[in-house]
Amino acid sequence: MNDSSPAHLPRYIDHYARSVEDPEGFWAEQTLAVAWFQAPLQTLLDKPDGTQQWFTDGRLNTCYLALDRHIELGRGAQPALIYDSPMTGVQRQFTYVQLRDEVARLAEVLREAGVKQGDGVIIYMPMVPEAAMAMLACARIGAVHSVVFGGFAPNELAVRIDDAQPRLLLTASCGLEFDRVIEYKPLVDRALALARHPPAQVLVLQRPQARAEMQSGRDLDWAQALAEARPVPPVELSSGDPLYIMYTSGTTGRPKGIVRDNGGHAVGLLYAMTAVFGMRPGDVWWGISDVGWVVGHSLIVYGPLLAGCTTVLYEGKPIRTPDAGVYWRIIEQYGVNSLFCAPTAMRAIRRQDPQADGLKGRDLSTLRQLFLAGEKLDGATHAWLQEKTGKPVHDHWWQTETGWPVTAPCMGLAGSRSKAGSSNQPVAGYVVRVLDEQGAERVDGEPGAIVLRLPLPPGCSQTLWRDHPRYLDAYLKAFPGYFHTGDGGYVDAEGFVHIMGRTDDVINVAGHRLSTGEMEDGVSHHPSVAECAVIGVPDALKGQVPLALVVLKDGADPGPLQAEVVAWVREQIGALACLREVRIVKRLPKTRSGKILRAVLRKIAAGEDVVAPSTIDDPVILTEIAQVLSVFR
Ligand code: COA
Ligand code: AMP
Repeated sequence: MNDSSPAHLPRYIDHYARSVEDPEGFWAEQTLAVAWFQAPLQTLLDKPDGTQQWFTDGRLNTCYLALDRHIELGRGAQPALIYDSPMTGVQRQFTYVQLRDEVARLAEVLREAGVKQGDGVIIYMPMVPEAAMAMLACARIGAVHSVVFGGFAPNELAVRIDDAQPRLLLTASCGLEFDRVIEYKPLVDRALALARHPPAQVLVLQRPQARAEMQSGRDLDWAQALAEARPVPPVELSSGDPLYIMYTSGTTGRPKGIVRDNGGHAVGLLYAMTAVFGMRPGDVWWGISDVGWVVGHSLIVYGPLLAGCTTVLYEGKPIRTPDAGVYWRIIEQYGVNSLFCAPTAMRAIRRQDPQADGLKGRDLSTLRQLFLAGEKLDGATHAWLQEKTGKPVHDHWWQTETGWPVTAPCMGLAGSRSKAGSSNQPVAGYVVRVLDEQGAERVDGEPGAIVLRLPLPPGCSQTLWRDHPRYLDAYLKAFPGYFHTGDGGYVDAEGFVHIMGRTDDVINVAGHRLSTGEMEDGVSHHPSVAECAVIGVPDALKGQVPLALVVLKDGADPGPLQAEVVAWVREQIGALACLREVRIVKRLPKTRSGKILRAVLRKIAAGEDVVAPSTIDDPVILTEIAQVLSVFR
């Protein structure tokens, strides 16, 4: 455990106490850090359905705050974005002025394509600066972007298109994986053919590695359109206007469209960048993720830019691009002050280079600390990373729904502690509780459902795109007065939160959140499958990988099953799902009413002791399943 934060800073304990005792007063104070067009007079509006709206009458523009504002303050010549792509060998920097100009012109391209304030825009792009520019250009004109991770298959893209009903889709000719070029345009074309609400136009960034076939009348060339565009100013938006939709896996096949508003997001995220991550204007921040995930939104694009930092946008992997030393090279080359990454990435580096030879001779003196999240940070990786870098390593926990950390050590405040093995203490604004199934509070360190007491702080999602009832049902119904996070865990005697894993049908594969329910939907349609359950099993590199437990139909041939199921998941969901194992079992554990006991399966897979529930139809089946799963532990 350590407390390395300087004592001249505001105290964590004061911020936290104030945020809990007087949320309105605390967050009203934090609004002062934001350059509103019209500062809000009303801080918090509590609605009868349990949701909140922050800063109702405030008016602002997130793109202005991320770019123009810093230029006004004299930071125009400071690098805003550094693009480093070992995939292509390109290294490029954009100052705040250059990035603002690119974004302002791209905003005009969007307008010319018919995009208006409030319209949806889908962004399906690799990790190139234009992806960040696309997000910011939408924000500039009040369009609502939804970035879809490039690893998702056309079917998944189509599902998101149909939900967002975008006016425009932005893409690139290709993404780059270790040693192959993935052509995006054919994937987009297939998705548009599958979608019921395809956008009328597609803006395509041609990359040198692949040339996209353009469909006349629908597809627009990015470079050509931009060359003719003039910059447009940011529009004034209401605090509650949506900034983006981020689709995330729920327990069913239908992803949830998490909506982030402009005002709450600006205040909450700016608070996180300074109080949690300890970032100051001019600092260099590296969020190692992809813009297709919430961490990419908050920690590659909006967070560092709102805070006036230089953000590093990396197109590469932790290993093999070209080797396990690439992270250390980047930290040294750009003088990175702080970074975020997923534990999987560090596990990959450790596995490839256990002695950290790639780090030798590298100057990491600018680096103050490393933040890890997205999945549990295992003790071995934590200890290795801390030992090899000589820097503090912090686990912290959040979700797409919150948009910024719920628990974390606060490096911008004094007296906040970090405890290895835990996900750390709640950040100001979050009251974390552990409840049992009946909703009674567990105060004794016993595990249960992790919930957040309402009101949620600014920036947390308060609705789902076009489906508010589903939001209420998924998050606020189970435990009245609390937001149900879907994670299980406990709070120890010192108040540190320990996240143990999901309590629903969501798994985390290499830090990517995926729905087992969705995979199950598909697997169960295979003609040989009578029924199935997909669960996450531990994986030394990726944390978890999915495994399908399948009961065959009478007389079905098990021969081609595995290959067909694996191919189906790749084809329908995407390679990132990594479903590679299918196991045939005689039966699945069920309640007497026929419901598959997934919670029991999850526990067996995690190696926990399982007492056969009284509702189970046949307890003997648990022994068979435990045997099948034992090889994965
Ligand atoms: N576009 C297209 N395909 C993609 C993709 C993208 N953006 N991202 C991943 N894929 C594909 C990969 O090519 C791979 O396909 P394959 O099965 O045909 O080889 C599959 O999806 C799985 O990819 P990945 O999870 O990257 O596994 P990997 O074995 O190729 O690499 C790691 C292992 C550890 C290097 C990699 O998982 C990694 O970098 N993890 C860090 C993840 C991360 O930063 N997450 C942040 C979210 S918080
Ligand atoms: P996402 O919404 O994609 O960011 O995924 C959020 C989920 O990832 C959480 O609900 C957790 O299950 C998991 N997660 C994120 N950070 C951590 C962490 N530090 N420790 C354990 N699980 C985490």
